[in-house]
Parts: sequence; structure tokens; C-alpha cells
Amino acid sequence: MSATLASSVIVAIDGPSGTGKSSTSKAVAAQLGLSYLDTGAQYRAITWWMLTNGIDLADASEIAAASGKPSIVSGTDPEAPAISADGADASGPIRTQEVTSAVSAVSAVPEVRARITELQRTIAAGAEGGIVVEGRDIGTTVLPDADLKVFLTASAEARAARRSGELKGKEATDLAATQQALAQRDKADSSRKASPLKKADDAVEVDTTELTLEQVIECVVTLVEQAAARKAERLEKAGQV
Ligand code: DC
Repeated sequence: MSATLASSVIVAIDGPSGTGKSSTSKAVAAQLGLSYLDTGAQYRAITWWMLTNGIDLADASEIAAASGKPSIVSGTDPEAPAISADGADASGPIRTQEVTSAVSAVSAVPEVRARITELQRTIAAGAEGGIVVEGRDIGTTVLPDADLKVFLTASAEARAARRSGELKGKEATDLAATQQALAQRDKADSSRKASPLKKADDAVEVDTTELTLEQVIECVVTLVEQAAARKAERLEKAGQV
């Protein structure tokens, strides 16, 4: 089912939550036979580890001091994303409201970002067939030389509607509350000093408000194919293939 690309590519997909970033990144990677890295899951996993190990999240110096302690291991199969903290499967707990509410504070601490950024660069460098890396600062900070940078956006209303569709049971709140929680997290993620959520100057912006998920996936697949072809041409000219 996966198409063959003209060259191995590193793809950065950034944007706020509710834009379809995770679903798009996973589907594009699966369709094109690329690895996949969910960097939000890494920040969530370190946050979960801190919550379960009694770190005081109101104290940035305590967060900084603990940032190097847990081993965070991410799987890179887009069909079976996996994440663990100190060997414990974190894929369920990182999606709880407790972690979602705490992750912006933890991910704003420069020592945490330095630690996780290093992990991300190591994983991207080791992904031989190419990789899709999704997050907030991938195109600006983590992988500034990515072959393709995509920045997904959507109206606040569309994002809140998609988010509340994803929440289940007692965590499902009304639309207005979801929109408010999203706005708060965006504000914290965009206004922090250490590598805030920001579109890279050379990123392609895709507004997903009026698009179905399938349309967004198709659009990004085309962008990746074009970037892979451009890269293959460059390498050929440089006599590297
Ligand atoms: O994409 P997500 O909602 O799972 O991300 C969780 C949090 O992690 C988000 O509020 C901001 C932070 N994050 C970040 O600071 N940098 C990234 N590259 C990815 C996520």
C-alpha cells in the first residue's frame, strides 16, 4: 500500500491541537512508508513520569532537576505508535486530563526541552527511510533543515469541535469549555520563552478548517512527494546518487 518516494525525506509537521496533526502525520507516514514520531507524546510521557514520581510541578527548578532522570522511549511505527517512561507503557496514561492539564508547564522548562529535543534529533537521524515528526517546534528548532515543513491551522471553532469529538465519557465537556481549554494551552505553548509554537518562515501553511481529514492527508502526501522529488534532483545534480 505504501508508495515509493524518490528519496528519503525528513518531514516536520507543526501546529496547535485540533488541526488534525496527529491523524494526518500518522496516515502520511503509513502511506509513504516513513517512520513517525509524536513529540507531544514525549512531553506527555515525561509529564506523566513527574506526576507519578512526586515532582512538584509548580516548581520549575524541581522539574529541571528531574528532567534527565526518566528514560523515554518512543516507537516509530505509524501503525502502532508506542511510548514508555522508565520501561512502563505510557500510551494510556499520557492521554488523561491530568497529564493534558500539566504538560504545558513541564514542556515550558528549558531543561526538559533540551533533553527531549536531543532525543528527537537522535531518532530522526536514525530513521533511514525518512520520517514524519509532528509537534510544535519541529520546523523552527528541532529539525530546521527538514526537507519539508508543514504548518497546520484551523479556526478555533473547528479545532474545539474536533477535540470534543475525540474526548469520551466523563472527560467529554461542552464545546465552549473545550474551546477555552484549547485556547489556554495554545497561549501557554505560543508565549513560552523556550521554542514556542510558531510557524517556520519556510513552512507551507495548510488551513484545514474546511477540509476533511482525507483531503488534508492527500494534500500533505503530495507535498511530501514533491519534496522527495526535489531532493532526489538536488542529490543527482550534486552527483551523490
Ligand atoms: O500534541 P500534544 O497535544 O500531544 O502535545 C502536548 C503538549 O506538549 C502541548 O501542549 C505542547 C507540548 N509540545 C511541545 O511543547 N513541543 C512539541 N514539539 C510537542 C508538544
